[in-house]
Amino acid sequence: QKPIKVALLGCGTVGTEVVRLLTDHAADLTARVGAPVELAGIAVRRPNKHREVPAELLTTDAQALVSSPDVDVVVEVIGGIEPTRTLLLQALRAGKSVVTANKALLAEHSGELFEAADGTGADLYFEAAVAGAIPLIRPLRESLAGDRITRVMGIVNGTTNFILSGMDSTGASYGETLEEATRLGYAEADPTADVDGFDAASKAAILASLAFHTRVTAADVHREGIAQVSAADIAAAKGLGRTVKLLAICERVTENGSESVSVRVHPAMIPRTHPLAGVNGAFNAVFVEADAAGEMMFYGKGAGGAPTASAVLGDLVAVARNRVVSGRGPRESAYAALPVRPMGQT
Ligand code: NDP
Ligand code: HSE
Repeated sequence: QKPIKVALLGCGTVGTEVVRLLTDHAADLTARVGAPVELAGIAVRRPNKHREVPAELLTTDAQALVSSPDVDVVVEVIGGIEPTRTLLLQALRAGKSVVTANKALLAEHSGELFEAADGTGADLYFEAAVAGAIPLIRPLRESLAGDRITRVMGIVNGTTNFILSGMDSTGASYGETLEEATRLGYAEADPTADVDGFDAASKAAILASLAFHTRVTAADVHREGIAQVSAADIAAAKGLGRTVKLLAICERVTENGSESVSVRVHPAMIPRTHPLAGVNGAFNAVFVEADAAGEMMFYGKGAGGAPTASAVLGDLVAVARNRVVSGRGPRESAYAALPVRPMGQT
C-alpha cells in the first residue's frame, strides 16, 4: 500500500511529540489507517537547533513542502495567523487534508478555511485546538449534531488554570507559576495570549461556532484575563468558600422571542463544592448542555506536548483513513491486533 505522506509544519512543544508518536506507534498507525503514515518533511524556523527528529527531514521552506506533489496531509503546529493561513489555504485548495492545533487562526479565519476545504472536498480537522487531549470538537461537530445545544461552559486554558490553582493551593506567586507553565510547555509562544484571555476567547469562539452552528470570531467574545487577579482576591475567595477560575461561557439566549448567542471569557468566583473547583493544574473541563442529551462533562489534560499530540494523531488517523478507505471505519486488522481473553480468565 502506498504510504500517506505528511508535511509537519512546526516542531516545537507539540510538533516534537507528534514526531515521537508517529515513530513509536508506526506499526499500529499503519494497521489503523490501512497504509503506512510517513513524514515527507518538517518545516521549522531554526534548522540548526538541536532536536530529537531526523535532521534530513528538516526544512525552512514550508511553502515548498506544502506544495510538494508527494504530500497528502499537512499537520500544522506552528501557531499564529501568518504564514499559517496562507500555507493551509494553499494545502486545502490543492485538495490536501489539513490537521491543525491553531485556535488563533481558526477563531479568525475558519470561514475561508472551510470554504477552501469544501471547494476540493479536503478534510479540515482541529481536535487539538481546544482543550488539548480532551475529545470535544468531534462530539460537538458530529455526535451532538442532531441535538440542540444550549450551553457550553468551562475551563479551556491550561496555563491560567495552572497559575490560579497554584496561587490558591500553595500560595505561589503569579510570576513563579507563569514561569513554570512556560517551562512545562503549556503557555503560548507569547504567554500574554493566555493570561489576557485571548487564547480562551479563541477557543470559546470555536466552541460556540460548532455548538450553535453559527460563525463566531474571537472579536465577538467579551474577554477579560487574569492579569488583574491578585493574591488578595484569591485569599478573599477562599475566605468565602470559593475559588477563582477563568471561565469560557457560550450560551444560546432568547430575548423578546428572538435567539442570539452570548460568548464571554472572564475570571469567576465559584463555590469550592462546584465540580470545576476541583479542576487543577493544566487540566481543562467543559460542561455541555443539550436539549435531548442533558448535561455532559468533558475533563482531561488541556495543554502540554504529549496530550496535544494525542489529539493531533487522532485527527491524523481520521484524515489518513478517509483518504485510504473513503470514509469507511477502521480495517479489520485494527481489531485483530490484540487477542481477546477467554471467558472466566482474569
Ligand atoms: P512552539 O512555539 O513550541 O513551536 C512552534 C514551532 O513552529 C517551532 O518548531 C518553530 O520553529 C516553528 N515555526 C515558527 N515559525 C515558523 C515558520 N515561519 N515556518 C516554519 N516553522 C515555524 O509552539 P507549540 O508547539 O507550543 O504550539 C504549536 C501550536 O499548537 C500553536 O498553534 C498552539 O496554540 C497550539 N497548541 C499548543 C498547545 C501546548 O500545550 N503547547 C496545546 C494546544 C494547542 P523553531 O523550533 O525552529 O523555532
Ligand atoms: N496555551 C494553551 C493553554 C495551550 O494553556 O491552554 C493549550 O491550548
